[in-house]
Amino acid sequence: MERIVLDNKTIFITGVAGFIGFNLVKRLFKDVKGATVIGIDNLNDYYDVALKEYRLTELNTTVPDGIAWKFLKGDIADKQFVDGVFEEYSPKVVVNLAAQVGVRYSITNPDAYIMSNMIGFYNILEACRHSRDGFDNERLPIDNYRGVEHLVYASSSSVYGGNKKVPFSTDDRVDNPVSLYAATKKSNELFAHCYSKLYDIPTTGLRFFTVYGPVGRPDMAYFDFTNKLMKGETIQIFNYGNCRRDFTYVDDIVEGVYRVMQGAPERKKGEDGLPSPPYAVYNIGGGQPESLLDFVQILQEELVCAGLLPIDFDFEAHKQLVPMQPGDVPTTYADTTALERDFGFTPKITLREGLRHFAQWYKQFYSHE
Ligand SMILES: NC(=O)c1ccc[n+]([C@@H]2O[C@H](COP(=O)([O-])OP(=O)(O)OC[C@H]3O[C@@H](n4cnc5c(N)ncnc54)[C@H](O)[C@@H]3O)[C@@H](O)[C@H]2O)c1
Repeated sequence: MERIVLDNKTIFITGVAGFIGFNLVKRLFKDVKGATVIGIDNLNDYYDVALKEYRLTELNTTVPDGIAWKFLKGDIADKQFVDGVFEEYSPKVVVNLAAQVGVRYSITNPDAYIMSNMIGFYNILEACRHSRDGFDNERLPIDNYRGVEHLVYASSSSVYGGNKKVPFSTDDRVDNPVSLYAATKKSNELFAHCYSKLYDIPTTGLRFFTVYGPVGRPDMAYFDFTNKLMKGETIQIFNYGNCRRDFTYVDDIVEGVYRVMQGAPERKKGEDGLPSPPYAVYNIGGGQPESLLDFVQILQEELVCAGLLPIDFDFEAHKQLVPMQPGDVPTTYADTTALERDFGFTPKITLREGLRHFAQWYKQFYSHE
């Protein structure tokens, strides 16, 4: 592992108006000194743009002294735009979080996934590659390196498809995606491996497991269920509730990303005399899958506890058990031993604590409406 110092560096993050990107930038504002943070996002309307704008306003108004923050609206699928950012700012650490997310949406809108997740990620990789043009980095220690020192990118637990063996390990074969979204995320890992091998670019992919928390994504079950219950609508529980999800609170995800940014896979020569790819993939998940029905029960209790719903709310009348949806998987369960071994970190926040934070935020955020 090569240690990457973030202080005084130029850090480039895509998807900063998104749920995880926003929280990551907040974390960098808190703990990194003297850095320039460049954030981009295309602010697409896959979900309520007001939430994305709210997150950006939060960032724009909380920049600490000593940090230079720049937001640029743009699309990673636009090669000229991406190349222009790299030319102007020469980032040293890159975190690619921008992606078309969602499993079900990939059934009806496949184009968005190919543009953002395939072309977009390819543009990021190419820009990282060309950031080294004209330099012989081989003999330089990583902190004197020209060009990008570490590319960290979001993969997903969805790459495990219908994997039967639990917990899911990064050593398991992941050749059976059940959604286009999952296929694009697996492809990102393959692309990254190829660029690590060919151009000696240290890359780390992170397979996130169901991330949730305040200012989260309205398309995800915990947020969608809350919206529906607040309107008195019925929620649909897929696979008749026979699902288990490994939920990860957003602060835990951000802690993992933050640590991983500072530890790049080592560059060394392989037996063929060419770079042995400085490439790694980790799971970041809670490591404690919860049944969907237990999750709904805890959510209900926390919505009542936060005063969002009355204590006598008839939850049973607002629940419907329905079959599995195409693209969904019955179980996700992260083996996080590699993350703990290499970065000394395992997620800490329980589902109840996390949903409590979410319910409290939701109450405060939507109370003025
Ligand atoms: N939240 C989860 O549970 C979860 C789980 C697994 C993987 N991930 C991955 O983590 C990353 C962040 O997810 P999130 O939950 O914050 O989602 P999000 O949708 O809130 O954030 C993604 C952001 O990227 C932006 N974006 C999308 N396409 C873009 C493009 N072509 N160019 C520029 N910006 C673009 C969107 O506007 C959005 O603000 C994604 O790559 C996602 O696939 C998330």
